[in-house]
Amino acid sequence: MKKLAVAALILSSFSGSLWAHEAGEFFIRAGSATARPTEGSDNVLGSLGGFNVDNNTQLGLTFTYMATDNVGVELLAATPFRHKVGTGPTGDIATVHHLPPSLMAQWYFGDANSKVRPYVGAGVNYTTFFDESFNDTGKAAGLSDLSLKDSWGAAGQVGLDYLINRDWLINMSVWYMDIDTEVKFKAGGVQQNVDTRLDPWVFMFSAGYRF
Ligand code: NI
Repeated sequence: MKKLAVAALILSSFSGSLWAHEAGEFFIRAGSATARPTEGSDNVLGSLGGFNVDNNTQLGLTFTYMATDNVGVELLAATPFRHKVGTGPTGDIATVHHLPPSLMAQWYFGDANSKVRPYVGAGVNYTTFFDESFNDTGKAAGLSDLSLKDSWGAAGQVGLDYLINRDWLINMSVWYMDIDTEVKFKAGGVQQNVDTRLDPWVFMFSAGYRF
């Protein structure tokens, strides 16, 4: 009987350390990341209203290191997001690409024996824009030389890890990123600068692998 109790005790502590996030652990999550901008901007060319920016889904990757059983440090990466940009009266006039890497400090609730680990995080986002170009509609309207200024801003997140076994987990998380930029272009050769915010919600569904 005593042997059995000892065995159960060993087993429970063993399975605990087998199943949970704990200090020194490193894991990667990969899945879909959908960026939904809550965009807005100054009036474009006086009469067109603000810019509209559509949603986009890409492969999202997170790299997380557990500094303690509860404190994580996470880097978010993704394949480049691609958004169509337009205004109400004109429809889509341009396409822009961006990468929004974010570095987060996280707090994981529960402890090293919990299979379910909700978490919150706060950090910094850097967004770089590239391959900005007007489409045929934009070009026909005399628009050219499009570029968007890179952005630094705060980011916040909430998420949940469900630990399936020692190696695998499933995750869902929601991010908010403060991304503000200046859209520069020429209209009929005249330089235009339009302050624009993307401020997207990013929804991620992923599977994770722990090392
Ligand atoms: Ni903003």
